[in-house]
Amino acid sequence: MKKAAETMFVCNSCGNEFSKWAGQCTACGEWNSLKEIKSSNFKLQSTKRNTEKKEVKNLSSLGEKKEESINIFSSNISEFDRVLGKGIVRGSVVLFAGEPGIGKSTLLTQLVGEIGGLYVAGEESAEQINLRVRRLGLKPERFDVLETNSIEEIGEVMERTNNVFKIVVVDSIQTMTTPTADAVGRASGIGSVNQIKASAFELIRLAKKTGSAVFIVGHVTKEGDIAGPKLLEHMVDTVLYFEGEKNGDLRILRVSKNRFGPTDEVGVFKMEEKGLREIKSDEINLISGNEEKIGSAITVVMEGTRPMMVEIQALVTESFAPMPTRVFSGIDNNRGRLLVAVAQKVLGMPMYKQDVYVSVTGGIRLDDTGSDLAIMGALWSSYKEKPLVLNPSVPRSGTSPLEKGRQTSGLVLVGEVSLLGEVKKVRGMEKREKEAKGVGRSTVYINSIRELKNLI
Ligand code: TYD
Ligand code: MG
Repeated sequence: MKKAAETMFVCNSCGNEFSKWAGQCTACGEWNSLKEIKSSNFKLQSTKRNTEKKEVKNLSSLGEKKEESINIFSSNISEFDRVLGKGIVRGSVVLFAGEPGIGKSTLLTQLVGEIGGLYVAGEESAEQINLRVRRLGLKPERFDVLETNSIEEIGEVMERTNNVFKIVVVDSIQTMTTPTADAVGRASGIGSVNQIKASAFELIRLAKKTGSAVFIVGHVTKEGDIAGPKLLEHMVDTVLYFEGEKNGDLRILRVSKNRFGPTDEVGVFKMEEKGLREIKSDEINLISGNEEKIGSAITVVMEGTRPMMVEIQALVTESFAPMPTRVFSGIDNNRGRLLVAVAQKVLGMPMYKQDVYVSVTGGIRLDDTGSDLAIMGALWSSYKEKPLVLNPSVPRSGTSPLEKGRQTSGLVLVGEVSLLGEVKKVRGMEKREKEAKGVGRSTVYINSIRELKNLI
């Protein structure tokens, strides 16, 4: 007896999968968004149940394989290589996700400009790509541009040229369609879950078959709720997130999944007139000067394994609105609110009648709790209308006899702040202190935010 194909239901809005149909998605609350998918359509290849080993095409003994059978090549962009581990793996599929306008197309255009490849333009015209290539000063002869929304057309080109392209960029997955998606669900408009899944599935097959590394661009919104990247994470080999504040020029490339390397490295870029420029470690200094300012505090955060010095600025000012304003840019809203509450309780700042604005210079987004103490310090300094200064009675780094003669010109605050106002050490303290010392600053050691009072 033939077994019926397994069916499942996928929410077109959030991408969650269910075994039963329902009128409303229990995960995101969207009505009428569940679509049926026959999961057998997504099986890679039908493995024939054959007991003869040699007749099963996809079966191979690892003993017969060479040790280093993964073929890796450099992207010629060292920050990119560093994030990927060693470089780009042949036949791999990389999901390149980020908010619209963050610079995904720019960076991937630069990547193709470095090593040559096929750029599939689903959003822009070939002429727009041409303009960008020339504006970025890249070599046009390294580009083959395919203007299409059809996965079948991409397949045709990739199979026909078999392995000519070291890399293929598909910009973006949300603009691609494939007829195979129609077979598995009726509501399969461009950008729907069905189309995205089926298109990605086909691209993965093409990458494995031809050996080209495929970079799939996927847009995400701030809430991360767009059907797309989340849906594909488990299918692809590597997931990269390109992040940054749009009004700032710093961009961080993070890896959240990597079948071929570690996931703790980040790449740092700066968006400039001529595209994205790699930033070296010693250039990541986002502080605007060495003199101490009211409402400002310097901290060193860890981005992956590298320390990065940033300035936090706060403005605490009396509020005349019934609900005081809270604006946090570059730090998590909830974290910001929590620190404001701790400031009120432990430092006695009357936050209930104060508007609070906090921002991080350079427009980067911090998710390192080591920056808590500096946020607190900036709030305190703004509220007291005095700059934070080194006080000889407060213990700090750089006070060993060897360094006594050396003048330190400022302080650095590092530490996680607990609900009770205690200051806790965070990972990478040594690296952070070294970074601070490099610019002649001392890391201050305090155990409670109460001691901030000694720095004013
Ligand atoms: P883009 O790569 O198109 O973003 P995405 O593909 O992620 O949607 O980048 C868009 C922004 O980048 C745009 O607002 C202008 C800016 N930009 C520069 O500042 N310099 C440049 O050289 C380029 C090409 C873009
Ligand atoms: Mg784009």
